[in-house]
Amino acid sequence: MSNPQTISNAVANLYNTYPFPPEPLLDEPPPGYNWRWHWTSAYNFCTGEKPTHQDIRILDAGCGTGVGTEYLVHLNPEASVVGIDLSPGPLEVARERCQRSGAARVEFHHLSLFDVEQIPGEFDLINCVGVLHHTPDPIGGIKALAKKLAPGGLLHVFVYGELGRWEIQLMQKAIALLQGDKRGDYRDGVNVGRQVFASLPENNRLVQYEKRRWGMENMRDECFADMYVHPQEIDYNVETVFELIDASGLDFVGFSNSGFWDIERLLGKAPELIERAKSFSERQLYRLIELLDPEISHYEFFLSRPPLTRNTWSDNAALMETIPERHPCMEGWPGKSIFNYDYQVVKLSDAEFEFLQACDAKSTVAEILTNVQLDLDEIRKIQQKQLIILSK
Ligand SMILES: C[S@@+](CC[C@H](N)C(=O)[O-])C[C@H]1O[C@@H](n2cnc3c(N)ncnc32)[C@H](O)[C@@H]1O
Repeated sequence: MSNPQTISNAVANLYNTYPFPPEPLLDEPPPGYNWRWHWTSAYNFCTGEKPTHQDIRILDAGCGTGVGTEYLVHLNPEASVVGIDLSPGPLEVARERCQRSGAARVEFHHLSLFDVEQIPGEFDLINCVGVLHHTPDPIGGIKALAKKLAPGGLLHVFVYGELGRWEIQLMQKAIALLQGDKRGDYRDGVNVGRQVFASLPENNRLVQYEKRRWGMENMRDECFADMYVHPQEIDYNVETVFELIDASGLDFVGFSNSGFWDIERLLGKAPELIERAKSFSERQLYRLIELLDPEISHYEFFLSRPPLTRNTWSDNAALMETIPERHPCMEGWPGKSIFNYDYQVVKLSDAEFEFLQACDAKSTVAEILTNVQLDLDEIRKIQQKQLIILSK
């Protein structure tokens, strides 16, 4: 199946049969947050400062049943949001989802991302999660999206990784073999796959991996089908994912699951090896990390269209004058043990707690520091931990 149109038709058939993701529809805004869909948080993560405007345009490319789109609307109250998808079935669910939860500032189009130029204008934030690796031409797809990104805009991409999907690939191939000329009948594929899992011994590697990593979500046929009977999937490694990134013509800003890409967590007990890795390029370092932790099943990252600069707040005078705001995505506040923007537990010192309490969106850093015992380097650390957002 190499004809692009044949592939796209097969992909649309899968998602019309099993719209994804199968999250329930609610009559209220969805619970919690995902900072990657919150413009201020995403921009702050990428640049170290608050964006200057909120009345932005957002594109959800390959929006599926609109789970992410709905968050994009609710989390960005001044933004206008557009969702596009190849498959009419999921789009219908996305429309109903947003209508039911009051997410009115959105329009949906039945459109392939390869035809995105048909939508006028540019976007400040483009979200493309779980889509490019299911297209016949991910490089063509990312280039089409890159053209629609405004200067200073952000593109958030999620694509699959091959190392952590090794067992999935084996099962996909086994199901395809067993399906024979019934391939393309996705209900049959799910039925075959479920029978295989039920029949394999408990200690079988594919069974164990499925149970440990995906068992819960794959109880739903939509998720099982998306994982095991997909007609088109391209899995990446660090080398090939950077070929995709380079082809986009955009700048790589960083992985949005940055904790995973910290070599200290793997070689922290071997300082000599950390020292050797210091001479590595960024990409070599990432390759080393994924070789040492091959559980990686996806890459998620931000790209930008220049100009987009990173503010490290090294200028003391500028830091003293800025008005700090507490990060909007945190839970458990006020408290000294909180969940940060990324749902990680952070324990605050007494002084950090006092500083955050004094962030009233009116007082400058200089004013707050007249009452709180912290120095500017400690403020920078609070900023780097993304507990506060600073404006230029
Ligand atoms: C795994 S789902 C992801 C849905 C959503 N982005 C999410 O993460 O919840 C993939 C979606 O991409 C859509 N898709 C695949 N190829 C596409 C294309 N060329 N243009 C637009 N959408 C596409 C599919 O129809 C499907 O709804």
